[in-house]
Amino acid sequence: MEFIGERIPAGPQEAYQSTEDLLEWMARQFARFGDIYRASAFGTNVYAIREPEFAHHVLVENWQNYVKGQFIKRVAFLLGNGLMVSEGELWKRQRRMIHPAFDHKIIATLSTLIAQVNSELLEKWQLAALKQESVNVTRDVSGMALQVILRFIFGEDYERVGSRFRLLSDESARDLSFAQGFRALGKIVLEVAARRRSQPSMSTDALSVLMQARGPEDGQSMQDRQLVNEILTLIVAGHETTASTLNWTWYLISQHPEVERSLSDELANLTAFPEFDDLPRFVYTRQIIDEATRLYPAGWLMTRKALKDDRLGDYFVPAGTEIYVSPYFIQRNPNVWEDPDRFTPDRFAPGSSISRHRLAMIPFSAGPRNCIGASFARVEMQIHLMTIAKHLRLRYIQSRDIEFEAGVNLRNRFDFIMYPEVKRPNVTAL
Ligand code: HEM
Repeated sequence: MEFIGERIPAGPQEAYQSTEDLLEWMARQFARFGDIYRASAFGTNVYAIREPEFAHHVLVENWQNYVKGQFIKRVAFLLGNGLMVSEGELWKRQRRMIHPAFDHKIIATLSTLIAQVNSELLEKWQLAALKQESVNVTRDVSGMALQVILRFIFGEDYERVGSRFRLLSDESARDLSFAQGFRALGKIVLEVAARRRSQPSMSTDALSVLMQARGPEDGQSMQDRQLVNEILTLIVAGHETTASTLNWTWYLISQHPEVERSLSDELANLTAFPEFDDLPRFVYTRQIIDEATRLYPAGWLMTRKALKDDRLGDYFVPAGTEIYVSPYFIQRNPNVWEDPDRFTPDRFAPGSSISRHRLAMIPFSAGPRNCIGASFARVEMQIHLMTIAKHLRLRYIQSRDIEFEAGVNLRNRFDFIMYPEVKRPNVTAL
């Protein structure tokens, strides 16, 4: 494609082949062409970027010129036109109606529930530690995250319907057969909604918030079909992302004994189960989570399509171009981060981010279409890590190298099997 007199980024002649791993292909092109390159992928003109200022332009400054790109099709067939997928007026209306479900007070109340779910998991892993047995961290953490999101959505109805969603943590494939089973879960959402309409209650769970929400302009509630799309979106978006981030966190801690020790030292100050108001005090625990989300951002790639011609720095962006904004590559950009592939939680020590670009870290995206569940996820991940790491260390005997599965989420290709060990309390010498 030629645009006379316009500056176009350099890039490979050959188009991306869909048989190749997308993350590996992108890594090669960035290494060759630098912070921006042009390529042809999936039959479209693509600019891939790893420069925070370009991401700022697309996600924040000129966000209205961009709609979601091709990559979203991978989830659209599962989620329908829910918040992750919708555009324009529908998206704006839905975002406003869903927002109250993530109110600060709701997240604070939820933290007690998160602590309870994780104390059950702790007991299970403590038992395994006593028997010197391994645990399947991937499966168990997925089960924990699923339970948390389902309780957040269905409140007391969780007891009745929770087990019918087990497909999400039992099945790791995300193929057509999974999609069929998953869409069928919409029926359960409608059943619960119908029961609640016939027996109104005072519940404040997310389903109730969504059912009671009224459109800001027309005062109308959501249609059933939209309600199903939104609830299924929250389940998928809120479950797999958190679970895979925690998997990577445990993996990283297991490979870095010095980090493990500093974490134990900090958690020595934790006397009971973590409570919401305590969380900011545990600075190092937060640094570990930040550093794990930097290295392994679950949403590793966002794609956007330009509606009108635009510019990225000096480069011309013709309408229709897909911009690949990748948290993974921005957060490992060697021009932005020192020793970017190294796990160093101290990068996030208080005050250390002052010299970094605001968008050098975008695991939850940025701008109006950022992650609506970011605070929820942060609270859940911190409570999980604190509850478990206070008592146990997870030992990982690496039988094979980790292998990325860079689908919608960035996961390891196989489950993490680890050995929990009981931590001895620090004994101070007399
Ligand atoms: C570690 C955990 C999480 C990560 C890394 C993450 C990451 C992201 C990212 C990168 C986006 C932007 C996607 C794009 O623009 O294409 C996003 C959007 C979204 N996330 Fe999260 N997320 C996490 C947890 C959650 C949770 C817990 C929920 C809900 C309970 C949630 C619900 C959503 C929704 C509904 C959107 C779409 C928002 C919109 O377009 O208005 N996420 N998330």
